[in-house]
Amino acid sequence: MDHLVDPTAEPEFKTLTDRREELEDIGQNCSTNPTMGDIINRRFSRRSFMAGSLAVAAISTTVSPLAILTADDARAEGMSHFDFKEVEIGIDETHHVAEGYDADILLRWGDKLFADSPDFDPLNQTAAAQEKLFGYNNDYIGFIPLEGNPDHGLLVVNHEYTNAEIMFPKFATVVTEKVMKDGQPVIKDGKQVEEEKVKLGEYTKDLVDIEMAAHGGTIVEIRKVDGKWRPVLDGKYNRRLTAKTEMQLSGPVAGHERVKTPSDPTGTKVFGTINNCAGGVTAWGTYVMAEENINGYFGGEMAKDHAEFAQMKRLGIPGGQYEWSKFYDRFDVAKEPTEANRFGWIVEVDVMDPTSVPKKRTALGRFKHEGAESVVNKDGRVVFYCGDDERFDYVYKFVTKGTFNPNDRAANMDLLDEGTLYVAKFDADGTVEWMPLIHGEGPLTVANGFASQADLLINTRFASDALGATKMDRPEDIQPNAKTGKVYVMLTNNSKRKADQIDTANPRAENLFGHIVEISETDGDFASTKSKWDILLKCGDPSVADVGASFSTATTKNGWFGMPDNCAIDADGRLWVATDGNNQKDTGRTDGIWAIDTEGDARGTSKLFFRVPVGAEMCGPSFNPTSDTFFVAVQHPGDAGLATFENPATRWPDFKDDMPVRPAVLAITKQGGGKIG
Ligand code: FEO
Ligand code: CA
Ligand code: CA
Repeated sequence: MDHLVDPTAEPEFKTLTDRREELEDIGQNCSTNPTMGDIINRRFSRRSFMAGSLAVAAISTTVSPLAILTADDARAEGMSHFDFKEVEIGIDETHHVAEGYDADILLRWGDKLFADSPDFDPLNQTAAAQEKLFGYNNDYIGFIPLEGNPDHGLLVVNHEYTNAEIMFPKFATVVTEKVMKDGQPVIKDGKQVEEEKVKLGEYTKDLVDIEMAAHGGTIVEIRKVDGKWRPVLDGKYNRRLTAKTEMQLSGPVAGHERVKTPSDPTGTKVFGTINNCAGGVTAWGTYVMAEENINGYFGGEMAKDHAEFAQMKRLGIPGGQYEWSKFYDRFDVAKEPTEANRFGWIVEVDVMDPTSVPKKRTALGRFKHEGAESVVNKDGRVVFYCGDDERFDYVYKFVTKGTFNPNDRAANMDLLDEGTLYVAKFDADGTVEWMPLIHGEGPLTVANGFASQADLLINTRFASDALGATKMDRPEDIQPNAKTGKVYVMLTNNSKRKADQIDTANPRAENLFGHIVEISETDGDFASTKSKWDILLKCGDPSVADVGASFSTATTKNGWFGMPDNCAIDADGRLWVATDGNNQKDTGRTDGIWAIDTEGDARGTSKLFFRVPVGAEMCGPSFNPTSDTFFVAVQHPGDAGLATFENPATRWPDFKDDMPVRPAVLAITKQGGGKIG
């Protein structure tokens, strides 16, 4: 194994991914929604007083300081209920899983998916080959059993984005550039300050086409044979979705003037899905993909007086991080200003029919959708939870109008076209108000610029601004727990929240490490419009008082983390959290998966189960129905420091000189079998 870059000496400069993420997360929420000034939570997490949902006011008058201490002591005694030996933190060129478990590579970027897939040839990549191979930057993973078999099913995987610098040979170079600030050179000690940077080469249409083919998703049959999972290359359901796959706009926005384009006068036929971050699998076995940072794919310039300008700006469009607009007019907002209105949706795919046209379900709103995990409510309606991943943006849920029919799959196929989208307001008294986004109700009127429900849905962020939703610290994955009626909201970080912008649900200024909010749906009714909320965890190093982290004292130095992003609930209703953004400099650890107790004395105790190789982000986590397999996604491995195709920070997972570093999905199983954790 060759150390191309010393991973323990991760330099302080930003990778292309860091810079891209900063551009994506542009914080354009200029609404005047109040950030609640209640400061009770500045000193104490309500969690440290007691479980449940007592109002802050009631707690502060009824709980004595002694009782607070007693509660903390009791919690300190609570040990993790997860039965595995914790992984030690560290940063190196490979992955690590808890002792007694195997983490086997299941699918890597470039792996074959079909009987006629070509061999992966990284030095001679083509779009045609990439369309038949596993895509780049695996993110969300879902498992859909075939005929109820937990050991045989379809794996669905999102391919969120591409890293050209480590993906394409002879494309990126390291250059030294003058550091500028506000257009002026930065001088230090009389000398011009310079920095080394990775610079991309000139794009060709061929390279853009490979990128487009490496985006989207994969549906692939997998089977456990002799205890090991394998892809079934001639699986009849196997399919690649890309940035060019034909899709249908469905629901209230379909056919609206604002989604018609020169090539699609019907306003219903769209090509491709992009930046599919997290997602979900429905009770009727469809695959749901969330379109997140769509802004980066659009280029060109839009006139400030264009009717679409304001809503595009609110989404950061055009972001210009990719060069697709140079070769495809539809990605140029000056040439086709409505194309971007056809992205930013939740996409539903019928995986049982590989010829089916995926549907963009517009009833769930348009924003930077992180995920779409769902639960069948006790009344049969289905409830989806969605984060809008941007600093100061919102938490949503969607409740279907119709009910799930467990005996007739076809009857469920358009459930997502009708229902109510709600946005959350987290009140200081521990209540969540779910406010409906319904045209004509409250401020959502023609007079306020919302012409119809379709018009409102295209401008979902404006509608939520008008309702006074709570500005959150980058809502990522949101996971309902059907067993407990609770819902876990990952809030990854928000360095831009100022001291006068804190509120009880986002209680830290300059929130570098994020936190997890727990919603308790009233009487386990996921369709409830008034719920309770609490903070499960404030993340970061609990040994540094200023950080204000709230892990239990039973959490070890390996057990805390920053930047929660994706999450999963296992068959026993236990929470597992994957992170994005831990590194040597910020937290002294890589990203990984931590198992977190949410109930009883051990609540807030966290344990490290798996960690990624240098430069990677942890994505995907998903269990099979029996929770004896844990599928995890290692995204952008090797993307640290001045990484390029020729000089990545690791050559994981192949560790061969002629093979680039490759994002990959792993299947984790317990040696000798049994439930994970
Ligand atoms: Fe693609 Fe919000 O992470
Ligand atoms: Ca994510
Ligand atoms: Ca992320």
